[in-house]
Amino acid sequence: MATRKAAPAETLEGLGASILDALPIGLYVVDRDLKVVAWNRGREQGPLGRPRRLVLGQPLGKVLPTRSYEALRPILHRIFETGAPHEETTESHGGLYHVRRLPVRQGRSVTHVLCWFEDITARRSLEMRLIASDRLAFLGQLVAGVAHEVSNPLAGIAGCAEALASLAEKSTSGKAVREARQFKNLIFTEVARCERIVRFLLDSARPTSEASSTADIPATVGTALRLLERHPAFTKVKVVARIPKSLPRARIDPESLKQVVMALAMNASKAMPGGGTLTLRAGRQGREIFLDAIDTGAGVSAAIRPRIFEPYFTTNAGHGAGLGLPVARTLVRSQGGDLVYRGPGPRGGASFRVLVKAGGRG
Ligand SMILES: Nc1ncnc2c1ncn2[C@@H]1O[C@H](COP(=O)(O)OP(=O)(O)OP(=O)(O)O)[C@@H](O)[C@H]1O
Ligand SMILES: [Mg+2]
Repeated sequence: MATRKAAPAETLEGLGASILDALPIGLYVVDRDLKVVAWNRGREQGPLGRPRRLVLGQPLGKVLPTRSYEALRPILHRIFETGAPHEETTESHGGLYHVRRLPVRQGRSVTHVLCWFEDITARRSLEMRLIASDRLAFLGQLVAGVAHEVSNPLAGIAGCAEALASLAEKSTSGKAVREARQFKNLIFTEVARCERIVRFLLDSARPTSEASSTADIPATVGTALRLLERHPAFTKVKVVARIPKSLPRARIDPESLKQVVMALAMNASKAMPGGGTLTLRAGRQGREIFLDAIDTGAGVSAAIRPRIFEPYFTTNAGHGAGLGLPVARTLVRSQGGDLVYRGPGPRGGASFRVLVKAGGRG
């Protein structure tokens, strides 16, 4: 039996319907009486979707919600009259849709209008995220620039303060010398605070990367301890170091690690104004090395616990900028490690842990 060959128009018609269904958009077609003559699969889906069998051949007024239909009717009439397409972006059911209404002509007259809905919610939110990340990158550059520009004059101011003080030393009046020293100290304190802010901005703007060098933990902690021994805040604080000599090197640059230990130690001293013990303890945990700073001070109350790593959060108003912990955390994280608050120590107080990756050569 000979198989009947499909007429080209038949094939095309069938194919046309399949193509409409395959399109990743919602689409329908109305005739001049505003009756629905085509309704694709995309238009059956989503929050605005309706099943095809319920809408084909129906007047559009019965298919769409009344308000949508009332808004659309004059637009459709205008397209039939003028042949000019219509396009808009609308929000509906929490989504964002790009809507096009296009005239379909047979001969010279417009016989149908094709309405086309594209859900652009995801695309738009991606665009917004890209714009936001661009802006953040720009802000990062801006902040790094400002920090860089400010750090040089700060160094200059500190130098001038030093020169001023030594000039005053040459003067004969003891009172003038004392006053000059006081001013010098004040200037240094303020400059140091500005430097910490600048360092924070610079470190925050630095992209996260692997540490470029490694630290010998016993040696680095040793350097920090020698600085602490002479520090006036540590006259009543006993520092105990339990750092095994056998520890592998840690993936962090030694200057950063020293800065982190100093920040934790200074915090511990502030929490123990009447004296106490700060224990620095290190060890290996799998591929990581931990360094704990445990004090016997006032501890961190539950109320402020979620905020202590926030920039500018401090309970030492007037004596602290609230940058010690956030700067330290940024420094460690930017080199692949972490800094966390662990809770109270075994004798009350507070316990902080620095985690860094082990390994690498010097
Ligand atoms: N060892 C600790 N014991 C008790 N509270 C602490 C301890 N370390 C930090 N904190 C709390 O966390 C806050 C934030 O600490 P952070 O080091 O960021 O700032 P700061 O010490 O107040 O100021 P800065 O370090 O800039 O001089 C402190 O003000 C303090 O309330
Ligand atoms: Mg601090």
